[in-house]
Formats: sequence, structure tokens, C-alpha cells
Amino acid sequence: AAISAAERPAYHLTPYVGWMNDPNGFSFYHGKYHLFYQYNPYATQWGPMHWGHAVSTDLLHWEYLPCAIAPDSTSDNGPGCFSGSATEMDDGRQLLMYTSVVSEKQPNGEMRDIQTQSVAVGDGLDYEKPACNPVLTQKDLPEGYSKFDFRDPKIWREADGTYSAVTVALTEDGSGAAVLFQSKDGFDWHFVTVLARNNNVYGKMWECPDFFPLDGKHVLMVGPMEMRPSGEFHNGHNVIAFVGSYDEKTHTFTREQVQLVDGGIDFYATQTTQAPDGRRLMTAWLQTWSDTEDKPQGCKWFGQTICPRELHLKDGRIVQTPVRELDAAHGKRTLHEDVTVQNETALADIGGRIADLTVTVAAGEYRSFTVKLAADAAYHTRLTYDPYTSLLTLDRSCAGSRADIVHTRSCKVRSQNGALKLRILLDKNSVEVFANDGEQTMTAWIYTPQSADGITFAADGQATITVEQFELNL
Ligand code: FRU
Repeated sequence: AAISAAERPAYHLTPYVGWMNDPNGFSFYHGKYHLFYQYNPYATQWGPMHWGHAVSTDLLHWEYLPCAIAPDSTSDNGPGCFSGSATEMDDGRQLLMYTSVVSEKQPNGEMRDIQTQSVAVGDGLDYEKPACNPVLTQKDLPEGYSKFDFRDPKIWREADGTYSAVTVALTEDGSGAAVLFQSKDGFDWHFVTVLARNNNVYGKMWECPDFFPLDGKHVLMVGPMEMRPSGEFHNGHNVIAFVGSYDEKTHTFTREQVQLVDGGIDFYATQTTQAPDGRRLMTAWLQTWSDTEDKPQGCKWFGQTICPRELHLKDGRIVQTPVRELDAAHGKRTLHEDVTVQNETALADIGGRIADLTVTVAAGEYRSFTVKLAADAAYHTRLTYDPYTSLLTLDRSCAGSRADIVHTRSCKVRSQNGALKLRILLDKNSVEVFANDGEQTMTAWIYTPQSADGITFAADGQATITVEQFELNL
């Protein structure tokens, strides 16, 4: 495949060198947003897991800090420091909680990786692992849970100061669960309850749980993993959210709705935090495990996070919008109003690979409407809306990626007689689409050379569109 050496995106976090997967420890601490991430500094592929670290004041520009934690010879002597999260302690220090993977000889002589939870304490720059690690092991789980799949603690403080954390775990009979633990001091933890089980409906195992209040409800987010016939787990590309009610006295979570968090191709390992102004912000890995071989040649870094999003509930469902900090970066505005399109049409000054574009399609009789992005004669990424099926399709089969990865995904986007609004964020090698003010989102890598920077519009039938593009001053 023709893969260009990717240029670094302008407002998405990437590792300076090496590999990134899940974002970790997303938090606001001592005046800055902190974002850690699963990091292999030695190669552009997954390997010994460190926590990379970056800080930002606007969620768009990130300053690299030294690696926060690295594998050691005691509590994480296996593949390293897996995913986790961060919170502030009463004494002003920052507490990181993560999965420490220990390589241990089994009774049959085989070496296996055991997953336990550990903590590290620091000042926003330097972190130390206390001697009490690990703070949670299989012994803290109820009977029947496996020591091989117990990970990804997401920590928060309750109103009374109690530390709570939700992890994922797997029962020995092979069903995933989200498990709640609590602690008075952040070091001494105990089991509270199993918050939810997938019952083999929503995947076999879960990863990267998050549990948080949102607009009067509670949300449990997890990444479901399926099982291959060989018995190995593999990651789905998606993240699901259960919206429901939480009884804080009995720690009972009642699910009311379930939804896919993003309908695109490259989106996994979400993590949220609360901003000082109360907003619930979400980040995620802008990638999926099945696509990680498709690296731009010659690139010294690989992996990126999404542009952080604000979450809200609308009619019991999560809606997502890019953080409003992006609006503050808006530069020159180009507006085309009430343009009728049929054959492929380019509009003056609409284009580029770093953009914030809003396309509004008026109600009308069209058969399908298409936006081509990152386009030239050879390449394009296509977004097509079919008002008859309500399907919005993201298709990057002409976007320069390998033939054997997923190229196309569709999701339902409701419209009134075809009226539709698409906000499209482009940043060199990614696209994030927000349909109808964030009722649906679709995220994907674009592998197309940067010289392919055209944007065009077309309709089967006739569509009347309004197009507004902001240059981003970053
Ligand atoms: C999800 C995940 C986590 C794990 C981490 C390891 O992408 O598999 O469950 O902690 O990546 O890097």
C-alpha cells in the first residue's frame, strides 16, 4: 500500500518517539490537564509498557514530560505498567493507579503474566512506587475470578473523600465484569461489589472501564473483547456505554440503555475526567488493535489520542462534542450558504488536512449525499449519508491503507427529511465526524499522503448545503 510518512498532527497528542496505546491518568491537577499513556519508548510497536506523560492547559497543545512510571524488577517485572488512572490526594500529591503485570512461575512450571493493581505517588512530574505494591491482587476478588485478566483501574474520589476504583475482571468460566473497590487512603483497598457483568452478550471480556455521573444518570463505559475460536481474546474496535441509575448506598448499578460510543474505525480505550468547570471530558486512543500493523513507513512515532470531547446526555443517550477549547483556536472563517450540489463540487477555500468543517444539509429530496475528504486524483476518504436507510458511512478504502484492514463502517443517524449536520475535524492523518451535534461520532486514521487535501461535495439527486470552515490557529 502507498503509505506516506505521517506528519505529526497539530492538535492530537502523539508520543514524541515510540509507541502509544491507551490514554491513562486523564486528570486536571495543579492547574494543568495531565494525560499519561501506554508507552513503549523503544519502538513503534507495543512492548514493555511505560507511562508516557504530557500536560496541557487547553487540551489541544501538549507539552511532553519525562516518562512517569516504568517497569521494574519487583511489582511489574512482566510486560510492565498497564492502563490506569489518576486522582489528587488530600495532601496535594497525585495518585496514579495502574495494572502491574508480574511474570510468575505457575505450579506446572510455565511462566505466566499475572495482573495486579499498584499505585505510584508524585508531584505532577516525578512519581514513586510505594513498598505496599501491589495494592490489589486476585485475593481481593470474589471466588472464581481469574488472576490473568484483572486490570485497568479507573479511580475517583467520592464526595466524602473515599477513593473508589472500577477495574475489569474475568470469571474463571469466561465472563467479563466491572468490579468496584474502595479505600480510605488510596493504599489499602477492599472489594465492594461487582457493578456489572457482560453475561456473554456484550463481548467476552471487557477492558478500560470507566464509571461516572453524567447529567443525573450514571455511565459505565467498557471496551468489549471477543474470543477467537482458538480461545484467544481479541479487541473489538468499539467501546460501549451503559447509561443507568446508581444507588450509592447499595452500590447497585441498574442499566437502562446501551449504545456504541463511536461508530467509526479507530476508537478504543476511552477515559473521562471532570474539568474544573464541571464538564465531563473524554479522551480515547485513536486506533484499534487490528490496525496497528499499518504504520506509516519511516515514522519514529505511532499512535495518537482523539481530540478530547465533552459529554452530555440527550434523551438518555450520550452526545459528544469537541471540547470548546477548539472553538477558541478558530481562525479565518469561510462560509458558503445554500449551495445546491449534484455532481462532485469543490468550493472556494474549502479544503486542507487541518480543519474544522461544518456541513449542513437542508431537508430535501436527495438519494444520497457524499463528502470526500483528503482527496486528490488517487485518494479520498468518503462520508456518505443515505436518508432512506439513515445510514452514515465512513469509507476509507481509497485512503492508502493496507487492503486487509477494515475500511468501511456505517452507523444510524436520524434525520428529518434528509436534514443533517456534520462537523468534521481533520488533523493530518485522522478524521473525527460529529453527526447532528454529536448524536453519533465516527473516528478513523487516514493514511493518505498529505498532498491529498481536497474536500468535495456531491449528491445523488440534489442537495442544498451550507458549508462553514474554520482555519485552526494552533
Ligand atoms: C487495552 C489494553 C488494556 C491494557 C493495555 C496494555 O488497549 O489491552 O486492557 O491495560 O491495553 O497496554
